[in-house]
Amino acid sequence: MSRKKPINLTLPGPIRRPPSIIIDSIQKNLDTDDHEKKKQEEREQQEERLRSQLTVQSKLGKYGEFNDSMFELDRELGAGNGGSVERVVHKETGTIMARKLIHLDTNEEMFKKILLELNILKDCNHKRVVAFYGSYQYQRSQIRICMEYMDGGSLDKVITRFGKLHESIIGAVAAAVVEGMTYIKKEHDIIHRDIKPSNILCSTQGDIKLCDFGVSGQLVNSIVQSFVGTRSYMSPERIIADHQYGVSSDIWSLGLSLMELGYGTHPFPRLKPDEIEELMRLPEGTPAPQRAVHVDFIDILADRVENDAPKLSSEFFGPDCCEFIDACLRKEPDQRPTLDSLSNFNFVKHYGETITVQTIATYVKKSLNGE
Ligand SMILES: Nc1ncnc2c1ncn2[C@@H]1O[C@H](COP(=O)(O)OP(=O)(O)OP(=O)(O)O)[C@@H](O)[C@H]1O
Ligand SMILES: [Mg+2]
Repeated sequence: MSRKKPINLTLPGPIRRPPSIIIDSIQKNLDTDDHEKKKQEEREQQEERLRSQLTVQSKLGKYGEFNDSMFELDRELGAGNGGSVERVVHKETGTIMARKLIHLDTNEEMFKKILLELNILKDCNHKRVVAFYGSYQYQRSQIRICMEYMDGGSLDKVITRFGKLHESIIGAVAAAVVEGMTYIKKEHDIIHRDIKPSNILCSTQGDIKLCDFGVSGQLVNSIVQSFVGTRSYMSPERIIADHQYGVSSDIWSLGLSLMELGYGTHPFPRLKPDEIEELMRLPEGTPAPQRAVHVDFIDILADRVENDAPKLSSEFFGPDCCEFIDACLRKEPDQRPTLDSLSNFNFVKHYGETITVQTIATYVKKSLNGE
């Protein structure tokens, strides 16, 4: 008989990390043997979901180019800088989708170019990437992109409803995002360019996926980005000189996004120790109070130029978590870890392996309960 070793999710030392009732209740009864079996089962289920996604895509392909009359509007899901996202139903197949509306002020030729570039998304099929169904031009002013609907929404909405995430869930998010970024870079030579909590989506099945990556250079150039919002996740080199862009800029944005998930609020303007203390004291499931502060481009620029890189509080987060996030947030891009080395950090390896899809699913469902 094999000896059963418990999975150690507790952290050593004086870290005052608040416990999670949700995580403890699901994970604590799993021993190593059961756990490995469960993870394997979950990997197979995830692969199965991806296969059925491909079946949906090929079924949809039979109806030809998308146009507005094929869809029924259900409700709006949210709005960003460049447009909004709605939940729609593809009438013929009953497929529920998220449809992103992007307003563009450009000529017909450019619309065609963008639609052509977006088609690359049809080949981006991965368990860490939101599936693309198709895109089309709407009147003379919009591109409409239809994609997989994720019923847990984006992680910015999750923390708005539920507050900060437990460190182990942040580890699972880090593992998923690193996997997604690696897939789009290695298989399609695409850099995301807009990593932030609103572009990381989750589902009640426990999936975590990336969306809105910069597949179309023409589209990225045609959308006028507002300074706040997207820019607040930008790396120092990108804030200072926008053309200097590489995967390392995405890695910075990942670090900042994970820090936001850990505190439950955007870490800029910088949080003071007593503010962090207050945030960490909030019981699990409690949103952070809104920070009524105005931030503009100059504030972000000044912070990136004048101050040291932000650091995660080692008082409340474990050494592996701090090591990972602090490494992503090194000011010099060439000092940050490479994409390949990110997956070897203890933080990613440990939580990527120990946190089950079922735990994430339960967590997402709990975060939706308040709605
Ligand atoms: N595939 C999807 N499934 C479910 N909800 C989605 C999906 N895509 C987007 N959303 C929701 O719609 C909201 C708006 O998305 P959108 O991409 O327009 O803006 P954003 O990411 O917040 O900002 P930006 O415009 O700067 O990218 C998101 O915050 C998310 O909650
Ligand atoms: Mg988005």
